[in-house]
Amino acid sequence: DTTGIPHRPGRLPVLGDLIGSNPRTPLQDTVRLGRQLGPIFTRRLVGIELVFASGIDLVTELNDEKRFTKHVGLGVKNLRAVAGDGLFTAYGTEPNWRFAHDILMPAFTGEAMRGYHPIMVEVARELVASWDAKDSADVSADMTRLTLETIGRAGFGYSFGSFEREEPHAFVTAMTRALRFAQMQGIKLPFVRRALAGSVRQNQADIALMNTVVDEVIDARRHDGEPGRDILGLMLSQSHPETGAKLDPVNVRNQAITFVVAGHETTSGALSFALYYLTRHPELLARARAEVDAVWGDREPAFADVMKLRYVRRVLDESMRLWPTAPGYSRQAREDTVLGGRYRMRKGDWVLVPLPLLHRDPAAWGPDAETFDPDRFEPAAVKKRPAQAYKPFGTGERACIGRQFALHEAVLALGMVLQRYDFTPDPAYRLKIAESLTLKPEGFRLGIRPRATTG
Ligand code: HEM
Repeated sequence: DTTGIPHRPGRLPVLGDLIGSNPRTPLQDTVRLGRQLGPIFTRRLVGIELVFASGIDLVTELNDEKRFTKHVGLGVKNLRAVAGDGLFTAYGTEPNWRFAHDILMPAFTGEAMRGYHPIMVEVARELVASWDAKDSADVSADMTRLTLETIGRAGFGYSFGSFEREEPHAFVTAMTRALRFAQMQGIKLPFVRRALAGSVRQNQADIALMNTVVDEVIDARRHDGEPGRDILGLMLSQSHPETGAKLDPVNVRNQAITFVVAGHETTSGALSFALYYLTRHPELLARARAEVDAVWGDREPAFADVMKLRYVRRVLDESMRLWPTAPGYSRQAREDTVLGGRYRMRKGDWVLVPLPLLHRDPAAWGPDAETFDPDRFEPAAVKKRPAQAYKPFGTGERACIGRQFALHEAVLALGMVLQRYDFTPDPAYRLKIAESLTLKPEGFRLGIRPRATTG
C-alpha cells in the first residue's frame, strides 16, 4: 500500500513520473528525487510503481532477515535471460541456489584468496606494463581489463587477453549487449525499448556466443584431468553432501556467466572511483602512497602484505560509500508486515534500497555526508555508526559471495599503481557517471608517469 508515501509533485495520469527521468540514468534520477523526498518515496513509470527506502531506520528493518529476504525482481529478474538460476539471479526458493552456494563457498575463503594472490599480482603486473608504455590512461577501461582478466584467470583458468587487445574480447561485447538488452526489457514504451535494447536477433547471437565460449572453457578443463580448486574446478568436481548430485551443466554455464558479470564491472568501478577521488585530493593520495611505501617499499606484495594497507582499503571503502558500484538491492516481505510503524506490506511486497542515498543519509553519516573522507572507516568511527549504514556488498545470506575476492584484488591493484606512478588529473574533468548494471566514471582519463624514485 503506497498511500501516504511521497512522490514527485506533478505526477501525470498515464506517464506517471516519467518526466524528468532519463532511461540512461535511472539511478542518478532516483538519487536526485530521494534528496528532495526523504527516507521513503515512490516513482511511477508508465504503469509500474516502485517504492524506494533509503533512510537508515527503514533499511535497518528491511535488512532483518527474519522479516525480509532478497527480492529477485525488476532489473535482476530481467537478467535471468542471461544468467538463469546462477547465484545472483536465482530465486530463494530454487534448490540450485543453496546447492551452488554451498559448493562455491570454499572458492571464497581466506585460503582460496591465498591461492588467487599470485594470479592477481600477475594481472596487476600486466596493467603496470601497459601503463609503462603510455603517458595517459582511460581509467575505467583499463580497470575493466584488470578485473575481467583477474576473474577469468583466477576463477576459470581462462585468459581474455585483455591487455593484448584494443577492442574488448567478443565475449565481453556480447555480454555487455546482452545485459543491456535484458535490462531494457523493463521499459514499457516499445519505441524507447527498441532504440535502447537493440534487436532480438542480435541478442540471440550474443547469448549463443557467450554459451559457446563458456562451453569451450568447461570442455578444456574436463580434458585437463585435474579439476583444481578454483571456481570452475569446484563446480565440476564437487557433489551434494546428501544426494551426491553434481551441478547440472546448464547451471554451471549460468554460474560462469554470473561470475564474469558480477565479478568484474563492480570491482573495476570501485577502483576507478578510488583513483578519481585520490587524484582530486592530493593530500589523501600522499597519505595512501606513504602507506604503500612504508609497508611494501618497492617490493612486490606477498599475500599477507595486501591487507596491511589499511588506509588504501579505507579509500576504497569511502569510494564505494559515495558511489556503490552495485547501486542497490531489493527486499521482499516474508509475511504481512508494517514497515516503519506506518507502511503496510503484504507478503511478497517489495522495496528497493538505493545505496547512494543510504550511504549519504545524514542521520547515519552526519552533516558532511557528501564529503569524501576515508577516516570515516577508522574502526572507532565505524563503531559509532548504525550497523546497517554501509551495505555496498548487499545484505544477509544473499550478500556478495565475492567480497573478499574483490577487496583483495582492488587493494592489491591500487597499491601497485600508487607504488609506481605519479598522476596528472585533467582539471577540467567533471565526474560523470555511466550507468549500466553498475556505475563507473565516464570519460575519466589520467596522465601517468613512473615515479622518479622507482622509475
Ligand atoms: C551479490 C556487490 C564483487 C559475485 C552481490 C550483491 C551486491 C554485490 C550488492 C547483492 C545483490 C542483491 O542483493 O541483489 C559487489 C561489489 C563488488 C562485487 C560492490 C566489487 C566491489 C564481486 C566479485 C564476485 C561477485 C569479485 C565474484 C568473484 C557475486 C555473486 C553474487 C553477488 C555470485 C550473488 C550472491 C548470492 O545471491 O548468492 N554483489 N560485488 N561479486 N556478487 Fe558481488
